[in-house]
Amino acid sequence: MSRFDLSGRTALVTGAAGGLGRAFAGALAEAGADLVLTDLPGADGLAETAALVRESGRGALVVEQDLSDTAALHGFADRVREQAGPLRILVNNAGTAALERFNEITPESWYRVMRVNLDAVFFLTQRVAEHMIADGLPGRIVNVTSKNALVAEAGLAHYNASKAAVDLLTQSLAVELAPHGITANSLAPGMVATPIDGEFPFDREAFEDAYRRRIPLGRYARPDECTGALLLLAGDEGAYLTGTRIVVDGGVLADQMPRTAFMPPYRTSLRPRRKDGTTP
Ligand SMILES: NC(=O)c1ccc[n+]([C@@H]2O[C@H](COP(=O)([O-])OP(=O)(O)OC[C@H]3O[C@@H](n4cnc5c(N)ncnc54)[C@H](O)[C@@H]3O)[C@@H](O)[C@H]2O)c1
Repeated sequence: MSRFDLSGRTALVTGAAGGLGRAFAGALAEAGADLVLTDLPGADGLAETAALVRESGRGALVVEQDLSDTAALHGFADRVREQAGPLRILVNNAGTAALERFNEITPESWYRVMRVNLDAVFFLTQRVAEHMIADGLPGRIVNVTSKNALVAEAGLAHYNASKAAVDLLTQSLAVELAPHGITANSLAPGMVATPIDGEFPFDREAFEDAYRRRIPLGRYARPDECTGALLLLAGDEGAYLTGTRIVVDGGVLADQMPRTAFMPPYRTSLRPRRKDGTTP
């Protein structure tokens, strides 16, 4: 597995207080990277993520930052560079969503989602990439988008638009950064069991039940099931992957309509093997 080894490299993960961010930080640390972890000031869970990273024997520096403060992002990137040294990997994972019908979205809500999901990805990457170029080391940018970047979901017009915009931004970055040995890709999860829509005002259990039936693999992902894609994009094995995306969605986008539920049970002329491996 040495081709996935990240020893000696430092990675910045945004939105690292829980959910996917914690899983991403843990996986990067297991692969040997030192971590800079950021989330909202006072976010519950950042210390726990830092402890997880340190359990792997890697360094964890916590630098809190509200990413919706666009004007502060270059200064934040500079502080991280000063305190942690050259960054080799940036995982733009922080994200926010609100469930609102399109005509109920206020400018405040629209811009809140855009500032975190799109503006912060751009302005943070802008500065971090400048540092990477100045440091003369190959870099990796991974933007966490969503299946919603590709197919819309009702009640999430701002979220859908922000994630689709990040997808094309990723391509733009890939093209401009390629001459500097920096790759940029997006990682698009499907439904992952995390707190992100925890506050949504609906019958969560009924919704999740209906959604599970829409997912060919029949369940939500665990956050750690998205980390393989990240490790591929973050390391040497991903050197020729740029301007593209990896969708980790259990097959949702492959299926127009869950027709299998309306089909007769699966038939085959092959007999299932016995537990001892023999065929009846
Ligand atoms: N959970 C899913 O089903 C799912 C599906 C597709 C994409 N995603 C994406 O994955 C990423 C991680 O989400 P998650 O599911 O782990 O949810 P999460 O809510 O656990 O994580 C999001 C993190 O971003 C942080 N954040 C939000 N606003 C911030 C701000 N202004 N400044 C700094 N940090 C801020 C939050 O505090 C939180 O820790 C997001 O970009 C999300 O859009 C999640």
